[in-house]
Amino acid sequence: MSQVFTKGIEQLEPLLKKLNVKKFLLVCDSSFPYLNIKDCIESITIDHVVFNQFSSNPLHDDADKGIALFIDEKCDCIIAVGGGSSLDVAKCIKLDSGSVVPLVAIPTTAGTGSESTRHIVVYRDGKKESLGNESVIPNYVVFEPKVLKTLPVYQKKCTMLDALCQGIESYWSINANSETRKLSRKAIELIVANMDKYIGENDEKAAEKVMEGANFSGQAINLTQTTAAHAMSYKITSLYKLPHGHAVAVCLPEVWETMLKCNPSEELMKIFTEISLELGYESPSKAISGFRSMMTRFGMNNPTSFGNREDEIKELTTSVNPVRLKNNPIQFSEEQIAGMYERIVG
Ligand SMILES: NC(=O)c1ccc[n+]([C@@H]2O[C@H](COP(=O)([O-])OP(=O)(O)OC[C@H]3O[C@@H](n4cnc5c(N)ncnc54)[C@H](O)[C@@H]3O)[C@@H](O)[C@H]2O)c1
Repeated sequence: MSQVFTKGIEQLEPLLKKLNVKKFLLVCDSSFPYLNIKDCIESITIDHVVFNQFSSNPLHDDADKGIALFIDEKCDCIIAVGGGSSLDVAKCIKLDSGSVVPLVAIPTTAGTGSESTRHIVVYRDGKKESLGNESVIPNYVVFEPKVLKTLPVYQKKCTMLDALCQGIESYWSINANSETRKLSRKAIELIVANMDKYIGENDEKAAEKVMEGANFSGQAINLTQTTAAHAMSYKITSLYKLPHGHAVAVCLPEVWETMLKCNPSEELMKIFTEISLELGYESPSKAISGFRSMMTRFGMNNPTSFGNREDEIKELTTSVNPVRLKNNPIQFSEEQIAGMYERIVG
């Protein structure tokens, strides 16, 4: 499905008027009142209702209340303003209501790329559910990098790392091809070149580039799906309350290192080397240590056990979705997965 991309929040009102929207459902989270794009959205002279009753890593049940509001208020457009959580709730409302109204996404984190994917991540009973299809890919995306100014620095690190890992995982996914690798490469390049200025200096130009990179990573995983690092991260998020991007980034070096120890084929080594070069290293082993040093530089620590470590490792190991693991270029045994969690959890 083709998407229309625009830049600048001031483009939103003309877009809605062109679409002849009479009443929109604004899906946003609790950060909305603090966003520097809020006034521009609220001043739009089109009727709207707000749905904000959900949390980060949203529950499937949360979206049900949004569906009721959307139907009761007879909205003819959904606008999602926020990070992956808000975007996924909006997509869930569109999917579960069976509606064909236009969905407009305004990402406020530079990370998930959810504004360009057909995936929806929601949780039920502490377990991640993957939903979605082509119909939930937002029809319109409005990018406004200045919105990243208010994103707390830790959230910036988490979301940026999510995008970087998506770029890397998409590159080595068994579903990758030359087209998807072009997207992954752009994602990795833009993020690596701009990460320090974005995180350290809150630089606006760097923020714009990281937002662009995150979107390329979303376009890439939309086609290839993510792999073992993502599959292993979801339970880390629910068990240790580590934000999504942080959880993925603690898994990625372990996954990569374990694959390296599995005697990868020549073809796979070539792919690993290409990724390493994109990251600025000459070999996969140097790239893995470089990734770990980056995590240390950003102060991103591994989770630590809060009780019975052995039980936690067991719970983590049995949680991993085998479907997502199938996208990984090397298949892991349960023992290998347990071994990786042993090294991840402190
Ligand atoms: N559908 C997909 O394709 C896809 C891909 C990857 C991840 N995800 C999902 O997305 C979710 C994570 O999304 P996320 O990492 O973007 O985080 P998020 O949407 O949960 O937001 C993180 C925090 O930052 C705040 N925030 C967001 N933008 C802000 C801004 N500009 N200024 C100040 N505060 C701001 C939010 O209020 C929230 O507290 C997870 O549920 C993850 O599983 C979905």
